[in-house]
Amino acid sequence: MTTEVLAALRPRPGGCYADGTVGGGGHAAALLRASAPTGRLFGCDRDGAAVQAARARLAEFAGRFEIRQDSFAGLDQWIEAGSCDGVILDLGLSSVQLDWPERGFSFQSDGPLDMRMDPAQELTAAALVNQTGAEELAKIFWEYGGEANARRIARAIARERETRPLERTRQLADLIERISPRGGRKSHPATKVFQALRIVVNDELGHLQRGLEAAVKILKPGGRLAAISFHGLEDRVVKKFGGRLSRDYEAHEPDVPELRRPRPAILRWVQRKAILPGAEELRENPRSRSAQCRVMEKL
Ligand SMILES: C[S@@+](CC[C@H](N)C(=O)[O-])C[C@H]1O[C@@H](n2cnc3c(N)ncnc32)[C@H](O)[C@@H]1O
Repeated sequence: MTTEVLAALRPRPGGCYADGTVGGGGHAAALLRASAPTGRLFGCDRDGAAVQAARARLAEFAGRFEIRQDSFAGLDQWIEAGSCDGVILDLGLSSVQLDWPERGFSFQSDGPLDMRMDPAQELTAAALVNQTGAEELAKIFWEYGGEANARRIARAIARERETRPLERTRQLADLIERISPRGGRKSHPATKVFQALRIVVNDELGHLQRGLEAAVKILKPGGRLAAISFHGLEDRVVKKFGGRLSRDYEAHEPDVPELRRPRPAILRWVQRKAILPGAEELRENPRSRSAQCRVMEKL
């Protein structure tokens, strides 16, 4: 959604931008090009391979960017508070990660059951699947994947691992397909379980919450944050965050009006509704079909 990101962040010469999910460097290159000759960009990605790819892609902008391997949850640890005109968080996985069997994100091809965005991290999907109790696994599949057959799948996993640990993506995908056959569905029956495992292995929602807080800290007043999410759980975190900071009070949960503490609003929504990919983007990149971009401006 590069066109939408540029329209939201309005890059200009001399501006300073942060890309918390630099991936292959597509958005970063577009921001650097649109802010030439003096715009600067800070970028990070949890995945070291993505960082290397982005550095190579951005070579033509040498001297105007700095990229680190890190989570966007730590953006405020190395970028000065109030220094950025725009921040982009393009959540989820890149096509490179999805299409690389060894990373273990995809049920389409066989690979180790890994799913770590940062391969230096200890917890893998295999460890989660083989060492978590069936009740807890069912909860994960339901809460983070919305999987209706969560219990049956979790029990089948627990039975299977008594004789043979689950170590390969295909092994898990085949087991799920046996429990809940595809029927007339378009999507693979393992889609939701794989999503749930990935979210938990990488603590994606925890990083997102901290990343949004960090992004607001590094923005200047008038600076904008664009967050592109790919599933409802991410979008709910973004919406809730924007809703809370665009109100002129702090509230407890549950919100009791008498207990609200007044404070100035910290940001405003640039658009009430999420921006969706256009027809051309959908044609070129069918995976963008579930993308939703929300844009906020710091006050
Ligand atoms: C959809 S891709 C981004 C593609 C990028 N915008 C581009 O133009 O090439 C998402 C990227 O975000 C990274 N990522 C996901 N969560 C992250 C986090 N908490 N901190 C940093 N990077 C993260 C993934 O490793 C992946 O490379």
